[in-house]
Amino acid sequence: MRRGREGLPRQRGYVTLLKGDRCESEQTGDMTDGVEPQPQYDGFADEFLDHARDSLYNAHYDRPTCLRLLGEVAGRTVLDVACGPGLYAEELVARGARVIGLDQSPRMVHLCRERVPSGVFHVHDLAERLHWLPDESVDLVLFALALEYVDDRRSTLRELRRVLRPDGALVLSRLHPTGDWLRHGGSYFDERIVEETWSRGWQLRHWLLPLERTCEELHEAGFLIERLLEPQPTAEAALVDQARYERLLREPIGFLAIRALPAPVR
Ligand SMILES: C[S@@+](CC[C@H](N)C(=O)[O-])C[C@H]1O[C@@H](n2cnc3c(N)ncnc32)[C@H](O)[C@@H]1O
Repeated sequence: MRRGREGLPRQRGYVTLLKGDRCESEQTGDMTDGVEPQPQYDGFADEFLDHARDSLYNAHYDRPTCLRLLGEVAGRTVLDVACGPGLYAEELVARGARVIGLDQSPRMVHLCRERVPSGVFHVHDLAERLHWLPDESVDLVLFALALEYVDDRRSTLRELRRVLRPDGALVLSRLHPTGDWLRHGGSYFDERIVEETWSRGWQLRHWLLPLERTCEELHEAGFLIERLLEPQPTAEAALVDQARYERLLREPIGFLAIRALPAPVR
């Protein structure tokens, strides 16, 4: 039985087995809430790198979208939050950015340091404050595909707002809430933690959150949403997996991405 964070309410848990496009979901009774205090990705960080380098979802869907939303990065300092194995960091540095990254997983941070020697990477759990970063010290914040692993998202987003320059921007991507709901069923509005076993056998716990929750948490943390995209895969995605490419063109089962600006302090 996994440990949860103390002080958080207990909610129902579900186990979902994702096999290709098939999904089997089974309620497992009450689980202690809090996603997971241990770094969930540590045990398969190398496999994740191997997968995400060229995968349809990462290389031909999420990364092109978030990089587009970030815009011009040359000469700018980008905070890569939950940086994973450094695939974003590598691209950002190639485009002329200075990159500071953080991830909860020591193995992910090791892979980042190997991949992007010019970057500065910290092992850091988003449950903690970013005490090593001063106020208004970064131009852009990238927070790709990790929001759903954070229990106290409002505090995390407030921290990101604190370290962002007033003329900066936050770009985040997350699982599309409609896709989550289609996979798991139940009430779309029920905020809960699920446990999934992905097709590669990776077991992950994460939050299911309706779209309004993310919009409200951004608002409460002091951000104004500038753009919200329901991305389409790039044409190259068809070469990786034609069936999934065609499905993503029709159905909201992938990710969404948001560009948000710091709201002026009143
Ligand atoms: C799906 S991967 C995304 C990695 C990278 N952003 C990308 O898109 O290639 C999710 C990442 O979030 C990190 N993560 C999960 N929970 C975290 C937490 N509480 N604090 C910091 N990083 C976390 C994981 O270790 C993992 O590297």
